[in-house]
Amino acid sequence: MLDFVANKVHDENRQGEAFAPFKDDVNEYSKKFYIESYGCQMNFADSEIVASILNENGFGATRNYEDANLVLLNTCSIREKAEQTVRNRLHIFRQLKRNKPGTLIGVLGCMAERLKEKFLEQEKLVDIVVGPDAYRTLPGLIEEAESGQKAVNVLLSREETYADISPVRLNSNGINAFVSIMRGCNNMCSFCVVPFTRGRERSRDAYSIINECKDLFENGYREVTLLGQNVDSYYWIDEQKDETVTFAKLLEKVALIDPLLRVRFSTSHPKDITDDVLFAMKKHENICKYIHLPVQSGSTRILQLMNRTYTREWYMAKIARIREIMPDCGISSDIIAGFCSETEEEHQETLSLMEYSKYDMSYMFFYSERPGTLAARRYKDDIPEEVKKRRLDEIVKLQNRLSQESNKKDIGLICTVLIEADSKKSAEEWMGRNSQNKVVVFPKKDLRLSKGDYAVVEITDCTGATLLGKAITN
Ligand code: 5AD
Ligand code: SF4
Repeated sequence: MLDFVANKVHDENRQGEAFAPFKDDVNEYSKKFYIESYGCQMNFADSEIVASILNENGFGATRNYEDANLVLLNTCSIREKAEQTVRNRLHIFRQLKRNKPGTLIGVLGCMAERLKEKFLEQEKLVDIVVGPDAYRTLPGLIEEAESGQKAVNVLLSREETYADISPVRLNSNGINAFVSIMRGCNNMCSFCVVPFTRGRERSRDAYSIINECKDLFENGYREVTLLGQNVDSYYWIDEQKDETVTFAKLLEKVALIDPLLRVRFSTSHPKDITDDVLFAMKKHENICKYIHLPVQSGSTRILQLMNRTYTREWYMAKIARIREIMPDCGISSDIIAGFCSETEEEHQETLSLMEYSKYDMSYMFFYSERPGTLAARRYKDDIPEEVKKRRLDEIVKLQNRLSQESNKKDIGLICTVLIEADSKKSAEEWMGRNSQNKVVVFPKKDLRLSKGDYAVVEITDCTGATLLGKAITN
């Protein structure tokens, strides 16, 4: 699952604020909701679907939870720390409920799905618990909760894709948008709770995806990121044309909307990314040359225990294939340190695979046992915490060096940058990304560029996480 912070131990606590709705005027609604999102981009995209459902039912968004009639937390279960953050947050809302007794508190997402009714027993102040496939029932659940009942719906679905719901873009910069193309995961990696919290894999109607992307483009957006737990297994049958739409075909269809619309995607499973996808990327300039290809471990034995279904050598061959077809492709990874029974030599294999792959960026974690997963049932979480942390530290240090090297290699390159905002440091500079997803900062000078424009930039310098340059055309 992709995030936008370079070379950082993945911040599952990244917090989405509550947001004003995209177009609508909050005052036209009789009630207000406040929503915070945690975890992966899919959760952030889901919060936009929830916002749309709530708008339709008379709730407008507020940025201030103290003003809200309904406070929602869209939660993540991927690691223990993510769940702890949500619990801490709920304790803060306890006070709110004391001051304003009618306020309803709802928990959405993976933690709701994992804990179900137990949530209501453990966290007495929670009124509503809704799993990721049950958001359409939220209005009814709110009514139940308003009448004093505890409201729970954690039913998982084999069909729900929310295809017909137009997400209300929350906290958007008006340039980049996430578009969910599938839900759930069938992979059963042994460490991962996602197949239990998000259910079986299902793909969304391709027409609804393309229409959403077209709509975004017409509204000024210039980049869409197609989201799924495992996008390469996207598969949808177009009964009108008697055609099967694979991920490669979907990518091309979205790329053809307009050359000025950039297309990204996340996440790819190494076992499923096909040559067809790689050739589609190569063929269309506007499909960004960047692949997030989580390896998890560099040891074949550990990969087997993780149920990743590929070996070290197989993964290396995949990296070689990507570089052969697109020598300029950016590649990033997810890495877990200290999985059950991992030896020092196996940890070294992870380091050497990182060197081989020359990742531009990685999200790095130490193993956190999740109740109910295959690993929790089958293997002992036997690597002491200090060993996990030391191994993670070595992985992070190596990634920092690899990122620095990758950035240094870009000095002198000329690249196209989609401008997203002023740079964090100065209103005199633009910040944007190149096709490889690297952040590029450059002076505005007197060039008449704006947010959403493409600039051709020569890279002149870099820091660990950012390329610095100068615009050479308008
Ligand atoms: N412990 C640590 N990291 C995990 N991830 C998933 N489950 C766990 C876990 N139990 C990581 C994987 C995955 C990313 C989203 O989170 O690297 O790719
Ligand atoms: Fe979890 Fe593996 Fe599915 Fe990713 S592919 S969501 S790590 S089970």
